[in-house]
Amino acid sequence: MDAIRLLDVAYDRMRDGETFDAMEDLLPSLKELRQSSPAADWQRFARHTSRAHPIAARIHQAPFTRRAFEKPRGYPGDAETLDYIYGQIPLGDASDFVREFYRWEYQTPSCGSVRARRDILARLIDECAAEVPDARVLSIACGHLREGQVASALRAGRLAELVALGQDATSLARVADEQAPWGVRPVLGSVRQLLTGQIELRDFDLVYAAGLFDYLARPIATRLVEVMFRALRAGGRLVVPNFTPDLRDVGYLETYMDWNLTLSRRGRAHRPGAHARPRPDRRVPHLPRRVREHRLPGGAARLTVLPDPVTPRAA
Ligand SMILES: C[S@@+](CC[C@H](N)C(=O)[O-])C[C@H]1O[C@@H](n2cnc3c(N)ncnc32)[C@H](O)[C@@H]1O
Repeated sequence: MDAIRLLDVAYDRMRDGETFDAMEDLLPSLKELRQSSPAADWQRFARHTSRAHPIAARIHQAPFTRRAFEKPRGYPGDAETLDYIYGQIPLGDASDFVREFYRWEYQTPSCGSVRARRDILARLIDECAAEVPDARVLSIACGHLREGQVASALRAGRLAELVALGQDATSLARVADEQAPWGVRPVLGSVRQLLTGQIELRDFDLVYAAGLFDYLARPIATRLVEVMFRALRAGGRLVVPNFTPDLRDVGYLETYMDWNLTLSRRGRAHRPGAHARPRPDRRVPHLPRRVREHRLPGGAARLTVLPDPVTPRAA
């Protein structure tokens, strides 16, 4: 089926009240089109053709997709947008169409992966608190730190500190309001400041950056992994989550959300920091071998737990 026809069919089915199924069928078709088209053709379709079709105005009635597309904070994936994924934003008096569309958006593989990532991070925080007295945790690009609200150790005061680093003052203010009483310390700062040493963070037992590696060019990802290793205490762990090219929603994200992750159009999953030197100063030239990997739902994402290579606790 040609590309415009795909959109026509989905649009007609939506108008007939088959919104959920129409989108379920459109999702893999957009991915197939992305993979089978020359790059320039896909870009033209994703940025222009798909958005000029009448289905775009209908899809953009949905507040989650519209917010992702409009990027009111000037960058993709702000914490408020992610709160639609976490089911934190009530739809109020939204139309039946918007409610049905959100029911579809909520169960897409990318959204399921983000919620699974939050739950695994919460478990790792709890594990860390159970294994290490006075554990210290660092969340880089913390957003609204939703995993903090799931981790029972945090609420029970079993961590010495959780440092939440982010570049968005509005999101950090929310983290402070909601989680500072549990020992969360918000720090305003960017990846650039971490990489240039303007912000130095040290002596953590668990360090992670969720929803960040999907935007970073490989050399930056490598340097960030090195900085994260150096922020670990002996025996600490770092966690590197990222989406994989298996992500079934990639075509939808790029067309109607204008949400562009660093995913190759074909081929193998990128492993952020695969060439990082965890401790160049201590002659540990390679990433640790004993890694623990979690595949997130639908094969859409992966979360890799790496132990400190000098004094590893089990990954
Ligand atoms: C996709 S959200 C993920 C938020 C949260 N970690 C989660 O998993 O829900 C990306 C977050 O990264 C932050 N961010 C993006 N680029 C950043 C940078 N260069 N330095 C620091 N934070 C950054 C944004 O402010 C946003 O809160």
